[in-house]
Amino acid sequence: MTYARIRGVGAYLPEATMTNEDLERMMDTTDDWIMQRVGIRNRHIVGDSSENTTTMSVKAAEQAIEMADIDRKQIDMVIVATVTPQYYFPSTACLVQSHLSLREDIPAFDMSAACAGFIYGMSMADQYIRGGAAKNVLVIGTEALTKMVDWTDRSTAVLFGDGAGAIILSADENPGLLKTILHANGNYSELITSANPLWDGHQKNYLKMQGRETFKLAVTKLGEVVDEILHVTGFKYEDIDWLVPHQANKRIIEAMAKKLHLSMDKVILTIEKHGNTSAASIPLALKEGIATGKIKPGQTLLFEAIGAGMAWGAALVKY
Ligand code: ACO
Repeated sequence: MTYARIRGVGAYLPEATMTNEDLERMMDTTDDWIMQRVGIRNRHIVGDSSENTTTMSVKAAEQAIEMADIDRKQIDMVIVATVTPQYYFPSTACLVQSHLSLREDIPAFDMSAACAGFIYGMSMADQYIRGGAAKNVLVIGTEALTKMVDWTDRSTAVLFGDGAGAIILSADENPGLLKTILHANGNYSELITSANPLWDGHQKNYLKMQGRETFKLAVTKLGEVVDEILHVTGFKYEDIDWLVPHQANKRIIEAMAKKLHLSMDKVILTIEKHGNTSAASIPLALKEGIATGKIKPGQTLLFEAIGAGMAWGAALVKY
């Protein structure tokens, strides 16, 4: 039996930051409101620098490859989850393939599932590895949502940050990725949108979100999917060593921890420092958990995420 195992993890955050105090100077908001309602204090931003989702991906991937300790020519697929690619085409994945001098004949593609993108990407890589079509897959979550934010809309502008996270998933005879579950329901597509300026006279692809409705749906759907993944794998709450959630709102994360009977010190929490980095938030949190010595080999991790689509999912991982 072949499994996909996480062999390397990398992360990259832009140097420039934006604090709540910076935002207070730009719009009618307060540090108190942002901390109480969302739990964010700071976010990293690509700003006007030469950084973008390609350059961030390359840096995160280099770290993941180094940690995996494999020759980069052994990578046989690149999957990039992003809704803020540097170009519509070529794909970010092809640009990463070229920048990293990966093998010239491997498949490389981007995929879009917003904040659930990283779990979707992991799940796809898992299928290729289990099926024998790939041995080492580079999966990246990379996002620069601050480029899509309407800075006059305080209800969304305070929420997002930029960054990239990457993993190398490798074929292994020992269980790694135990289960991934993906769901989507396009009937909720109006909740979070970014219109393509090519159509309908849109001037800009500003991110728009019905926050309150999204919040309610997130708590419901994430609650269902974590129950589902435990049910189908036979794992129990007490088997989970770390919850590594998508970081959209601290209150959503607290609700998930409560549902899983986990204390908050069993949760990798990065939202305060990073904001919502969409597809990048889970690998960024994973890297932080490993780097701080919290997450250790052999432990059981639960990932969960929901975002625009609406698309959501969970992954149960033996690290
Ligand atoms: N500063 C101060 N006040 C604000 C701000 C702000 N930045 N933003 C909104 N407010 C005000 C509103 O105007 C409103 O005022 P009113 O009562 O006078 O009308 C009040 O605060 C409450 O607004 P709500 O929108 O009801 O606030 P809520 O508690 O729901 O928090 C939030 C908003 C943080 C957006 C929350 O709803 C949330 O986290 N939603 C889910 C986000 C999420 O999970 N997104 C998924 C991924 S994103 C993706 O896929 C790209």
